[in-house]
Amino acid sequence: MHLHKFEKIWLIFGIGSLFLFLGIIGVNAFYMGNQPPSCLVTIDPEKVDITEPFNQPGVKKIGQNHYQVTIVTQAFAFTPNTITVPKGAKVDFVATTKDVVHGFEIAGTNINMMLEPGYVSTATQVFEKTGEYLIVCNEYCGTGHHMMGAKIEVTD
Ligand code: CUA
Repeated sequence: MHLHKFEKIWLIFGIGSLFLFLGIIGVNAFYMGNQPPSCLVTIDPEKVDITEPFNQPGVKKIGQNHYQVTIVTQAFAFTPNTITVPKGAKVDFVATTKDVVHGFEIAGTNINMMLEPGYVSTATQVFEKTGEYLIVCNEYCGTGHHMMGAKIEVTD
């Protein structure tokens, strides 16, 4: 079968636009610090306390100006409850829950994750301003939900 020249051009244009579009979505998803929907890092929620890195929640320096913050959640608390990181450093958050679904939102940033039992959620943030940032649980998780919070202290 013979394709008309213009049909060919439109076909190429269509496929090209599709890839361009997918590319933009992909870049945006990561730029916003969101998790790809296929967040497939799993964990046994019963064994969080003995699974790396959650057996040692807290702040760990993993490189030049690069930190990993490991967070365990359960009704109705974040562990650790206070996190201190330096201004301008790259901070990788790695979080999970030991019981029900909790939220992990850092007020004043784009980080807003849903922590689901059995899954590990990650996000990266560079804090450009010193001060205190609140971490809030924004998924209803029970009677103590509104009390569930933590804070990040960004120092010079
Ligand atoms: Cu945890 Cu709401």
